[in-house]
Amino acid sequence: MTQPLRAVRGEVVHFLADPADAGAAALAHFPDGLLLVRDGRVEAAGPAAELLPQLAAGTPVEDLRGKLILPGFVDTHVHYAQTDMIASYGEQLLAWLERYTFPTEARFADPAYAGEVAAFFCDELLRNGTTTAMAFATVHPGSVDALFGAARARRMRLIAGKVLMDRNCPDYLRDTAEQGYLDSTALIRRWHGVDRLRYAVTPRFAPTSTPEQMALAGRLYAEHPGVYLQSHVAENQGEVAWVAELYPEARSYLDVYDRYGQLGERSVYAHCIWLDDDDRDRMAATGAAASFCPTSNLFLGSGLFDLDRAHALGMRVGLGTDVGGGTSFSMLQTLGEAYKVQQLRGSSLSAERAFYLATLGGARSLYLDGEIGNFLPGKEADFVVLDPAASPLLARRTAHADSLAERLFVLMTLGDDRCVAATWVLGEPAWQRAAY
Ligand code: GUN
Ligand code: ZN
Repeated sequence: MTQPLRAVRGEVVHFLADPADAGAAALAHFPDGLLLVRDGRVEAAGPAAELLPQLAAGTPVEDLRGKLILPGFVDTHVHYAQTDMIASYGEQLLAWLERYTFPTEARFADPAYAGEVAAFFCDELLRNGTTTAMAFATVHPGSVDALFGAARARRMRLIAGKVLMDRNCPDYLRDTAEQGYLDSTALIRRWHGVDRLRYAVTPRFAPTSTPEQMALAGRLYAEHPGVYLQSHVAENQGEVAWVAELYPEARSYLDVYDRYGQLGERSVYAHCIWLDDDDRDRMAATGAAASFCPTSNLFLGSGLFDLDRAHALGMRVGLGTDVGGGTSFSMLQTLGEAYKVQQLRGSSLSAERAFYLATLGGARSLYLDGEIGNFLPGKEADFVVLDPAASPLLARRTAHADSLAERLFVLMTLGDDRCVAATWVLGEPAWQRAAY
């Protein structure tokens, strides 16, 4: 049944293209704007002066003037099972996995624990303005049920999958090539395409799968049209050297995935730091996407992702928090750290481009830009309401930030979950800050 129209009024900002390609034309900005939603979808976005007179008498208008209204954030790489080990001290990737990650993920054998963490994780995404995420569960099929159940209850867009891992890990987290294949197949049948949920075949990374399991992961991805595939590649130099020993026949780390049929549309690779141009060309040609995870890359000392080279060679790129290697659920903080990575590379990242990457860019990297990512009519009405005066310092700094670009830059540099006044999912409030 058709629901009544709802309207929110505020400073409406969304993207139509990548500012790196289209410049100012990429941005749609209505300083006093109106966003109209009905039946969970965007009906229109535009200037309030134009749209208000067209509203039927009695249409409720929520007045959010003074706040920014942007499309919900897209986190293209995160581990829900690592929520309780965020901020674990003192290691780089491989030792960090052994010391903290594997023991924490073992707890997900318990469905009650998995359910409790999944609920917290989804609430935390919404509290941070993230309405779509691509997430790793653990090797336990029940961990996927818990996560999809929690996301479905909140009507979120979520892509997730069971970790495939049959070597180079503790016994208590090991599956087999055959069992991993069967469990993944059952989970695809149970969850893929249910409401806004999509399944991702999830080989953890090449070192923790046997060649047999890698082949079956490629087969799952080929056998089920529309499913995703997620993994990690070229994050840490020790890891890269290890992969060269394990797969001596491969030209590069990325080439391992290519050989097993794991590159293509809807495949998403976290990190992509230590790639060469042949790898980048191959990602671009196959339609695979990189997830740039700056807080994780800095925290684990992994390296600096080359955003400019990825763009120059036509790769799809989204942003990921990579919690718990990453240090924040906030896409605002993630943007701030992405800027610093660019600074360390001698480059830069404009605020417009940063917010594009967190919204439409992320949606494009996940092949979801037909559904989400901006406020074109018919898109799913997921949006975040940002308060540019959420703290005394932010209020003081944004009071004289006169351009939109400056305010967005201050938000990504100083902002975090405190700035998220509300998050709407499918045209309904899903989370609201207490002093809203
Ligand atoms: N590579 C393989 N597993 C992981 C993980 O859990 N986190 C990160 N950051 N990298 C990985
Ligand atoms: Zn990761």
